[in-house]
Amino acid sequence: MRIKMLRYREAARVEEIPRNGMKVVNVDGLEVLLVNVDGKFYAVENQCPHMGYPLYLGGLDGKILVCGFHHAKFDVTSGKALNSVTGKSLRTFGIIVKHSLIFIRLH
Ligand code: FES
Repeated sequence: MRIKMLRYREAARVEEIPRNGMKVVNVDGLEVLLVNVDGKFYAVENQCPHMGYPLYLGGLDGKILVCGFHHAKFDVTSGKALNSVTGKSLRTFGIIVKHSLIFIRLH
């Protein structure tokens, strides 16, 4: 576990992200959007792959993240684009929750 954890960075405490809510964190200079879907956490890039709009300004409907600019939809569990606005997937990051802390893997 120790070697595995070296690749992870502490991003937030679990209580900072409300159930079915989101929060932007800056980890090593990268903006990452943490998403809480029914108590399970996911981490995706905060920048929309369509035209770069910050995704935290969009909406969350279950596991579907909707960009507030042109309404591209993404599955936060896989990063997959779900409509024809863009074919580009959202970058996702590995996540570990330990002792009420969320760690994300950037590389
Ligand atoms: S910038 Fe997100 S849909 Fe266009």
